Amino acid sequence: MQFTVGALFTLAVAGAALAAPAEHVDAKRQSGFCPEASRFGNFNLTPTQVKSGDTITGTLNLTCAQQYNIVPKYIDYYIEVPQNNNGYEPNILLAHHEPAAGAIIDSFTTQVPYAGYFNASYDVAVQLTYAVDGSQEGTSYYVTGGVYAPISITPTVTN
Ligand SMILES: *[C@@H]1O[C@H](CO)[C@@H](O)[C@H](O)[C@H]1NC(C)=O
Ligand SMILES: *[C@@H]1O[C@H](CO)[C@@H](O)[C@H](O)[C@H]1NC(C)=O
Repeated sequence: MQFTVGALFTLAVAGAALAAPAEHVDAKRQSGFCPEASRFGNFNLTPTQVKSGDTITGTLNLTCAQQYNIVPKYIDYYIEVPQNNNGYEPNILLAHHEPAAGAIIDSFTTQVPYAGYFNASYDVAVQLTYAVDGSQEGTSYYVTGGVYAPISITPTVTN
């Protein structure tokens, strides 16, 4: 009997400790400040209608990622065709960054590469590589997640 009460008490304390960070996130969510869709940051791309050689700038604001404890080790920016890729539309790397821990803003400015572009639905994808805790204490591993922004690129190759 006593063992059961003790066990329940321990469980209750553990539950409270685990619930605290979640409540913190929930409060932010309820305020509408950082909806879940913003957990990899808010990405702004300009301009969004381009051709090869044009200069583009992307800015990732990591304020909301921080609220979700997503701290990127790498941030990679790609031109990609996520839907109905014809097999000849590989991801094109625009920038590979290793931001300082705690960085709030990450940005790149580059030229749209002189690649073969089809009449397809292109995005600029932002891929964050970040650490999460493993199931055994003291272990962690890396996962990826990201956001994207549509970009219209003048075709250079006919389908
Ligand atoms: C980043 O986003 C936050 C939350 O939306 C905003 O308050 C802040 O001004 C932004 N920072 C910059 C430099 O744009
Ligand atoms: C490009 O693709 C769109 C959507 O599939 C289509 O409506 C349009 O006619 C195509 N343009 C050319 C030049 O092939």
